[in-house]
Amino acid sequence: KVALLLRGFMKERVLTGIKPTGYAHLGNYFGAIKPAIEMSKDEGIDCLYFIADYHALTTVKTREEMEEFTYNIACTWLACGLDPSKVIFYKQSDIPEDLELGWILCNLTPKGLMNRAHAYKACVEKNEAAGVDRDAGVNMGLYNYPVLMAADILLFNSKRIPVGLDQTQHVEIARDIAIYFNNRYGNIFTLPESFVEKETSILVGLDGRKMSKSYGNTIQLFTDEKTLQKSVNRIVTDSRLPGEAKDTDNTICKLYRLFATPDEVQDFERRMLEGLGWGDAKKELFAKMNQTISPMREKFDYYQSHRDEVDVILEEGAKKARAIATPMLAKIKKAIGITR
Ligand code: TRP
Repeated sequence: KVALLLRGFMKERVLTGIKPTGYAHLGNYFGAIKPAIEMSKDEGIDCLYFIADYHALTTVKTREEMEEFTYNIACTWLACGLDPSKVIFYKQSDIPEDLELGWILCNLTPKGLMNRAHAYKACVEKNEAAGVDRDAGVNMGLYNYPVLMAADILLFNSKRIPVGLDQTQHVEIARDIAIYFNNRYGNIFTLPESFVEKETSILVGLDGRKMSKSYGNTIQLFTDEKTLQKSVNRIVTDSRLPGEAKDTDNTICKLYRLFATPDEVQDFERRMLEGLGWGDAKKELFAKMNQTISPMREKFDYYQSHRDEVDVILEEGAKKARAIATPMLAKIKKAIGITR
């Protein structure tokens, strides 16, 4: 009973940011969106999910794209079942406290730590290989990216940070910065830990490699049926003919498993072994996918054509987030002696 009470008082806080840098694809859905929405149904967990628009600014260079991608992300999460009464869902740029904290944290962040952050380091290595200035094309937004990310996390005392593998270093940096701060000013921040969904690494793209925007092998989650069908048709297969046995370790089977029931999977795999042709297999895969996606697509289209409703949802989310962020920043400013 005591444990239950404690759990009620000290709900575990989970926070993650989603960068609006493109259109959501199946890899995003199964690797991040779906598990995050599942997690938000747990009453013992307090979830904050936000659109990291200021982070996207390092790569998104036009107003049109920023707006397009931001609504794509917002509508995607809502369409996939995010319940704004269960999740604090907001836009980073609606939380000015985040940037204030970001500046404070800059002063506790060793420059060398930023030199070693992977996104910046990758740029430097690329520049060096090309024989150009090591900082060519690097802006301060990219360089300071991990500091702002630390602010996103620490401002809300979040404990668990679901991220892709490539982001675990950033969460460790946030943790380091929290430790520096706590050592200097007293125990203010909870130390965050990253949490990596297993599926992220497994989901395959059109060419059989991991589905990723950088490989250009993604299947976009919300497009019209025709485009979805076209994507499925582009899945790379071998040249075995209908009637020839196919092993079940192929991309079509792997994707099919994500959408079908165990019985359906068993039946499908048996028929693959018996020689189901690639063309027919693709048709079946498309039908199964579309069965899951189409009700969500309807919601997605609804939100896309009612963006004012989306704005209201995000504004409400920002209010809830600021109800946490404002007193937290006040506490931080006190701790560093800027206010009394
Ligand atoms: N950097 C993350 C990404 O590229 C997005 C992000 C920004 C984030 N702030 C965050 C993730 C805070 C978790 C917590 O995917």
